[in-house]
This record gives sequence, structure tokens and C-alpha cells, in this order.
Amino acid sequence: MPSAPLLCCSQNTTMKQWVTNQDGLDKLRLVDTPEPSQLNEGEVLVKIHCVSLNFRDTEVCMGLYGHHKTITPGSEIIPTSDCCGSVVKLGPETGDSGLKEGDRVVSIFNQTHLTGQIIEKDMASGLGLPLSGCLTQYRVFPAYGLVKVPSYLSDEEAACLPVAAVTAWMSINSFQPIGQPIRGKDKVVVLQGTGGVSIAGLQVAKALGLTTIITSSSDEKLKRAKELGADHTINYKKEPNWDEAVLELTNGRGADVVLEVSGAQTLGKSFRCVAFGGLISAIGYVSGKLDAADERINANVLALVRNVTFKGIINGPKDRFEEVLRLYESKQIQPVIDRTFEFEQADEALKYLFSGNHFGKIVVKVQ
Ligand SMILES: NC(=O)c1ccc[n+]([C@@H]2O[C@H](COP(=O)([O-])OP(=O)(O)OC[C@H]3O[C@@H](n4cnc5c(N)ncnc54)[C@H](OP(=O)(O)O)[C@@H]3O)[C@@H](O)[C@H]2O)c1
Repeated sequence: MPSAPLLCCSQNTTMKQWVTNQDGLDKLRLVDTPEPSQLNEGEVLVKIHCVSLNFRDTEVCMGLYGHHKTITPGSEIIPTSDCCGSVVKLGPETGDSGLKEGDRVVSIFNQTHLTGQIIEKDMASGLGLPLSGCLTQYRVFPAYGLVKVPSYLSDEEAACLPVAAVTAWMSINSFQPIGQPIRGKDKVVVLQGTGGVSIAGLQVAKALGLTTIITSSSDEKLKRAKELGADHTINYKKEPNWDEAVLELTNGRGADVVLEVSGAQTLGKSFRCVAFGGLISAIGYVSGKLDAADERINANVLALVRNVTFKGIINGPKDRFEEVLRLYESKQIQPVIDRTFEFEQADEALKYLFSGNHFGKIVVKVQ
């Protein structure tokens, strides 16, 4: 028989949260709402300290995130998926979760994706659409949807990891068994742009001793990437044929792994500069979802002639999140935060992310 719910605070206590009707970055609203008042079996109440933003969050707020059929367009939702907070109260039947009150935790993106390949039903457990997200002062999570934070990370830093670090990790290591990531200077990774995923990818790749080539529209950002340890930098505005530069830097061999975050304007070039037998991880589409007229490609031919793997990436499971956290802790990696906004400025923070002017991650302090 299921355990009785646990009452965790009075119905009269209110908290603040941001909501969107998926109708534009100018239309987010900060509202008062009752604090969660009961915990069901396996649930945990978390006080949210910080949230980090992802490109996806801007799409959700603008009604442009069409991958999910499980939510009505225009319906109200709390945006964002990545948070760091502390456990305030444990519900019934959470004894074997390993969590206790006061623990600092981070959310996992697809709450039910705990191990192995993602299956379609896990997509229904994505935070910040289709499930309500984290721009709220308190939120109830299933205990299994949380990971404990290493003590060396600040709340702001920890909040940066669920989407960016896990996605970057899986983009490089999705074919590697847990505990055996790709290592070594002879392996070359290409990172596109200097947003959240790419900068996490740069940090992870450096920690594994890989050779890194990063592209950006900005020399200033490339200078910062160099300071973080990037081996080679290419300004893709000044060198539109950056694929040729990658081939030159690798003596014609090409890169072992390409983190493809841009899509329409870059995929053809990624195929042209990936090594024979290499991997292109399909992560994002910041240059648009439709084909770029000058970049039509025949992926079939491009993949087969050089034995290339073109692999879709949807974040990663909880056990791989824990794996990448172990690397972060062992190397004391600090996620790169471009700017931190106050809770009341969360809408401004989302607009700033959409401007593309940032380097690394953007954080909102909740409480
Ligand atoms: N599949 C997944 O699990 C997953 C997870 C996370 C993110 N994503 C997707 O991955 C993409 C990046 O996410 P993010 O959160 O890292 O975004 P972000 O922080 O907003 O970074 C985007 C960066 O992309 C770069 N960029 C823009 N156009 C480019 C082009 N033509 N060529 C190369 N780089 C370009 C820009 O860097 P510069 O200013 O340096 O040029 C920009 O700052 C988004 O499409 C997002 O939806 C997917």
C-alpha cells in the first residue's frame, strides 16, 4: 500500500516563480504561488538556490521548442531545467535515496533517464518542458531525479552542469563504457562556438588530455578559450572555411570528434573535417533548424565514404552525470560563468543568453 503523503508546509505560505505562456521573452511573469504543501512517496522538497540557463530555455519561452507533443502550445509553464538547491524535506519512502536534509543537489535534465540509452518515454520527464522547470523558489522532485553536489563547487557553478556538462561529456564519450572515457593528445576534438555546451566540452576535453580546436565569431572569446587551455582557435567569421583550417591543423587527418552545435551552417563542414572513422555528435542547431541554402549535404554519402558516425545526442543518463562529476571533482574543474543575474532579472538573463554575447554559462540566483 502506498505511504500517506507528508505535509511539508502550510497552504498559506507563498513563494515566487517565473512563468511563461511560451509567447515571447518579453512576456515572462514573476508570480506569487503557494509553496508545495505535501510530499508523496519518493519525493523530496528542494529549496532552489541557483538556476543556469540553456539555449533551449529561450526557445521554450518563445514557443519555438516543438519537439514535444505532450504540452499544449501556449500553456503556462515554469521554464528552465538546471538548478542547484538544498534538500529541505524528504517524503515517505526516500530512506534508500542516499539523500538527507541539507544536502546540496542538482537536478538531472530528463528525470527518468537514469542509465543506458534514452528511450522515448524519458522525453516526457524533461524539466522546463514538458515538466515544470526550476525558476521557482521551491520545487518537489522525485529523489532519483537529483544528484549530490561535490563540496568544492559553489551553488552557481553546480547549477551549470546538468545540461551543458552532461551533453558535452556524452558527445565525446557516448560510445565509451562508464569509467573509460577517451583520453590522450592524439585524439582531436572540435568545439563550435563558445556557449555553455562548447565551453564545458573544452574543459572536459582538456581534463582528458585531448587536443582541442575551438571556433568562435569573436577573437575576444577565442582569447578567453585559449586561456582555458584550447590548443587551437579559429574565427569562423574571418575563416568561413574553418573546416580547411581544422584539416591543416591535423595534417590532413581531421578531428576524431566534432561537437556539432550549430547545424545548418556547419554540418557540411563538420563532415569535411572529421577524421576517417570519426564521430560527429549532433547536439544543436543555433544557426537554424532549416537547411542553409549553401550547405545542402548528402549525409548518406558523406558518412559512408569515410566511415563517419553521425550520432544524435539527447543529454545523458544520471549515471553518466555522476561519472562526469567525478572527473570535475578529481580535476577541480570550475564551470565558466559569464554573468549572474538576480532572480527578479531572470527575463533579462534569458534575453542576454539569446543575444549570444556570452561566453560559457549564465546563472540566475534564486534565493
Ligand atoms: N542535444 C542536447 O542534449 C543539447 C544539450 C544542450 C544544448 N543543446 C543545443 O546545443 C546548442 C548550443 O546550446 P548552448 O546552451 O551551448 O547555447 P549557447 O550557450 O547559447 O551558445 C551558442 C553559441 O553558439 C555559437 N554559434 C552560433 N552560431 C554559430 C555558427 N554558425 N557556428 C559555430 N558556432 C556558432 C555562438 O558562439 P560564438 O559567439 O563564440 O560564435 C553562441 O554563443 C543549442 O542549439 C541547444 O539547443 C542540445
